[in-house]
Amino acid sequence: MKGLLRLIAITMLLLGLAQAVWAEDKTIEGAASAAEKTTEEMPQADVNHGKKIFDSICTHCHRTDYETSPVGAPGLRDVLQRHTAEWINTWVTSPEVFSKKDKDAKALVESNPYGLIMPTIPEMQIEQNRKDVIEYLKTLK
Ligand code: HEC
Repeated sequence: MKGLLRLIAITMLLLGLAQAVWAEDKTIEGAASAAEKTTEEMPQADVNHGKKIFDSICTHCHRTDYETSPVGAPGLRDVLQRHTAEWINTWVTSPEVFSKKDKDAKALVESNPYGLIMPTIPEMQIEQNRKDVIEYLKTLK
């Protein structure tokens, strides 16, 4: 009888311990998913990803100094002194649409010596990509 009571006591003790561990796990999980949510709601701009995008797409036409490229695309150095980040964000989303609505965008297209208009780029339809590339443009000074 004494042996049985001891066995029951030990089992209860172990169960209690297991539950405590499980509860702690849940707390950690909860905290981790809350942290994920915060980053999801406020995406941070990733300058390195922005540079990758720039090097693989934008450099087909743009240079990173002040020089106009052979296709007539403006050099993008100091571009954030010429336009706000918001303007650039709308421009890169769709230059074709924006240049019909915004007088600066229209003037920019009209100043192109070859009549080339910057195309609408599929990668620039993703907000995070635009944020990243604009973050990189800020470094061109
Ligand atoms: C096919 C060529 C081409 C590509 C690729 C291209 N652009 Fe352009 N971009 C132009 C041209 C040309 C202009 C000048 C306006 C016009 O004629 O459309 C311009 C203008 C701009 C301007 C305004 C510059 C100023 O000085 O006012 C910004 C900012 C810009 N582009 C950003 C980008 C970014 C960022 C990318 C890459 C995601 C990119 N462009 C890819 C051709 C291109």
